[in-house]
Formats: sequence, C-alpha cells, structure tokens
Amino acid sequence: MTVSNGREFLSIPGPTTVPDEVLQAMHRPAIEIYGGELMATTDACLDGLRWMFKTAGDTYIYAANGHGAWEAAVSNLFSKGDKVLVLESGRFAIGWGEFATRLGVEVEVLAGRPGRAVDVTALETRLREDSAGELKAVLVVQIDTATSVHNDIPAIRAAMDAAGHDALLLVDTIASLGIVDFRMDEWRVDVAVGGSQKGLMTPPGLSFNAVGAKAKAMHQTAGLKTSYWDWTARDGDVHYMKYAGTPPVHLLYGLHKSFDMLKKEGLDNVFLRHALLAEAVRRAVGVWAQANVVSFIIDQPEERAGSVTSIRLNGDYDAGRLIEYCHRKCGVVLGVGIGENSDKAFRIAHMGHVNAPMILGTLSVVEIALAALNIPHGKGGVQAAIDWLSEQVSA
Ligand SMILES: Cc1ncc(COP(=O)(O)O)c(C=O)c1O
Repeated sequence: MTVSNGREFLSIPGPTTVPDEVLQAMHRPAIEIYGGELMATTDACLDGLRWMFKTAGDTYIYAANGHGAWEAAVSNLFSKGDKVLVLESGRFAIGWGEFATRLGVEVEVLAGRPGRAVDVTALETRLREDSAGELKAVLVVQIDTATSVHNDIPAIRAAMDAAGHDALLLVDTIASLGIVDFRMDEWRVDVAVGGSQKGLMTPPGLSFNAVGAKAKAMHQTAGLKTSYWDWTARDGDVHYMKYAGTPPVHLLYGLHKSFDMLKKEGLDNVFLRHALLAEAVRRAVGVWAQANVVSFIIDQPEERAGSVTSIRLNGDYDAGRLIEYCHRKCGVVLGVGIGENSDKAFRIAHMGHVNAPMILGTLSVVEIALAALNIPHGKGGVQAAIDWLSEQVSA
C-alpha cells in the first residue's frame, strides 16, 4: 500500500520546484535572437542579478550550470601557477578548488571543522603568514548544500581585513541567493557566483558571475581567459556576444519572471519566509533528535543554513531506506546525503518556491517514515514546527 499518488513533492536542495508562473512564462514560441524584445529581457535579467547580489558591478549570464560559473570566475581572474586559498566547509568549495586545480591554479585548502562553519580565526592566521601576498584569492561558499552550513561572509571579510591581506574574496551563492541575505558591495565581495535552479526558482541551465572593480582589474592580466567565459568579450553592446552565441531564450524568460515574483514578494519578505520555514524544520528535527538517533550535521544553531537542513541517522539506521520510504510510499523526494555523510544522511530542502504546507507536508512524511521504519525519535516534531509557525505568523 502507498499514499503517494497525486503530485510528487520535490524536497531536494536544487533543482527546486519551478512555479507555474515561471513555467508559463517559458511556454512561448521561439523568437528572433538578433534584435527586438530579447535585448530588453537580457537587460532586465542583468539588472535583476545586480539587485539580487546587491551590487553596482557587472553581471554575466552563462548558458551553463553552476560548475560553469565556477570555471568562469577562475578562468577570468587567474594565470597558471597563481595560488588561491579554498575554505573547506563541506563539499562545494572543495569542488570549486578541484576545478581551479584542473585549470592550472595552485590550490591550498584551509581544512574545515566537521559540523562547523569556516573558522575565521584560522583564516586570519593563515593570511597573516602570507606576508609575501602569494595567495591571490579566497574561495568560499555562503551555504554548503552538502553539510547545510552557513558561512558568515562579513566575518570572513573582516578576518581578511584584520590580516591586512589583499586577496580577492570569491563567494559561491548557488545555494543561498534569493534565500538568505547577500550584500556583495557592502561586504566587499569581489566575485559572486550564482545559479538559476535554487532560490531563483528557474530550471537548471543558467549560472552567473557578478564582478566588482578590483576583480575586473585583475581580469586584465589573467592568463587563463578563454573565448567562451571571457567577461570582456561579453561586455560590449553586441547582444549575441553577451552569451558567446545563441542566447538561452526560454530560460531567460523564466528568470525574468522569477525576478518579477521575488520583487512582488519583496526581498526582505523572501528572506523572512525562508528563515521561518527553516526554523520550522529545525524545530521538528530538534524534537526527533531527543532519542539520540537523529541528529543535525551542523552543531551550532546559528551556523545552520536557511536553505537546507542535513540530518544524520546514528547507529545502524539506514538513511537510504528512509529516503526510499518517503518517496515510494508517500511521494516526497528528499535529498540524499553527499560526501562523507552519504549513506547516513538525508537532506530536507527549504528553498525557493516553498510555503508552509509544502514544508509541513514534508516534515509529516519524514515523521511517518521514522515511525514506520522503527527509527527511534522524539514524538511531536511536526507539532513543534506548527507551534513555531503559529507563534511567528500573526493573524
Ligand atoms: C553551493 C553549490 N555550489 C555549486 C553547485 C554546483 O552547481 P551545478 O550542479 O549547477 O553545477 C551546487 C549544486 O548543488 C551547490 O549547491
């Protein structure tokens, strides 16, 4: 017996649910790409990105997934043999560093602490040691989607300032843009990287660079530039060159609509909605954890992400069985564990086009699975989430 018929609910941390409005905006015939209305759509999307990243800098749209935007950032800034510091806090900054290595950049990793965000004191110490200024940049993710940690970007910037180090700061916001606040110019982030498929509620296939003046200056002498990723080649007025070829027309329609929706809701409301729903998830997990089998992967409450919560099953309990039960029996698709936690972990996404019934439905299904699979857990996790939301969301 299953209770999974009806619309399957996707609770993976990207790609996320695409709103009907975005799908409908994409449901259009193909159009001319060398002139006409597409120019205005491109301009609106580039401006929308400036608005999202909170920057007056230049923005670029690639017909690529997030890995493409990683490669774009690295190839536009560095030359073979340049050295960068990658701040480990899970899987994704390491992945970015692996891409940089393949391009010929020397990558040093500042080792992470299991269950914790980047250690800003260790960062400051390492940068102070680099008195010769060998490190050209610091690479970090704002939210790591594997561990579900939230790194404090202003604190990282402050550690760089305290060390008096001149390295560029490069931040991956793929799992945080449009979910938690990000202030590129105020925090003096030099390059920010984003993707379409999480907080921006658009199908996968677009990724972004936002670039400040200091990064643009370093770009002039970068030896790794290639025709496709090159920012300068995309800077002129020729529309076709903004995509180094045929524009991803329908994804641009989708992205444009998503900006309209985010503007209508208001960015601060978008962040608050995510914060409330994230805390609802954490309230439920906190109750389930009372039986010492379920636990948060991130130890400190203030370091837990607003977009996704990674959860471990301790002992001999199999997270894969729980994920399978939720999907096959109840129609909810949870995120699988990634990296060192892969077989012991599952992830609940709370990002993008989500609301209270989606989150409460997901939590309820997880609680059903915990009971049906005899996984010891504190009872009443969903009730705790309900209590939280009813206190916070006033009549
Ligand atoms: C934080 C972060 N960075 C980078 C990526 C890679 O993006 P993509 O899979 O679109 O290449 C992901 C994907 O989940 C991510 O969560």
